[in-house]
Amino acid sequence: MSSPTSADRPTSRIYKRERLSAYDRWVWGFSFQPWAWGPRADRVVEFYRTHLSRDHLDVGVGTGLLLDRAGMPEGHERLHLLDANQGPLEETAQRLARFSPTITRADALAPWTELEPGTFASVGCMNVVHCLPDPEGRGIEAKTALLDSVARVLRPGGRFFGATLLDRGIAGKWRRPIAPLMMAAYNRLAWFSNRADTAEDLERALAARFDDVHVWTEGSLALWYATARS
Ligand SMILES: C[S@@+](CC[C@H](N)C(=O)[O-])C[C@H]1O[C@@H](n2cnc3c(N)ncnc32)[C@H](O)[C@@H]1O
Repeated sequence: MSSPTSADRPTSRIYKRERLSAYDRWVWGFSFQPWAWGPRADRVVEFYRTHLSRDHLDVGVGTGLLLDRAGMPEGHERLHLLDANQGPLEETAQRLARFSPTITRADALAPWTELEPGTFASVGCMNVVHCLPDPEGRGIEAKTALLDSVARVLRPGGRFFGATLLDRGIAGKWRRPIAPLMMAAYNRLAWFSNRADTAEDLERALAARFDDVHVWTEGSLALWYATARS
């Protein structure tokens, strides 16, 4: 069982719309670099573009930079944005107005009752799992309600893809001196709750719900893609 996220937790405070102006520079300009998290923004955009479909649900949207840079595939049908916070929803909907997005404000760990089952061709969830609360230090097990909801809303054969930052078991992080410092600070501030998350647990949790599961790490980032069951 996962713990739902309360509205006043630190991730809600830092994602107020007026604070998002620094997000792209700090996260995508500075942190996604070889000296910090590892892969650069361009590499993550390329991964994102590979798996994005014409009928896409994005969970935890931030400023919408990845969708903006990747672009929707030709003949796009639907873009739906889901986030616990109003600021990222407004910012991203405005930035991506050319794709006429629809939005749902919902916690990633609560049931997505507004969304119909079995309809999306892809669901992306980039840099969200490491933000989800884990008060008892159970790691990925505390966050599996998200995976259950994704499995419910994807159509058979649909693609689930995403990425999350890991603290534990990451080789070479000491050669990226800023990564352990940022990871420790963000966990202390409760912006991240990823101390107990591992790539192995992520793979197990995905394999329990999806087919054709691929999980790997690049720097501090664990990336995955998987296919919804029929
Ligand atoms: C680190 S940002 C990632 C944004 C974007 N996907 C990216 O990669 O740049 C995390 C996003 O997840 C949202 N978020 C955090 N906790 C959430 C939760 N419990 N449920 C839904 N969204 C959440 C935040 O509002 C924010 O938009």
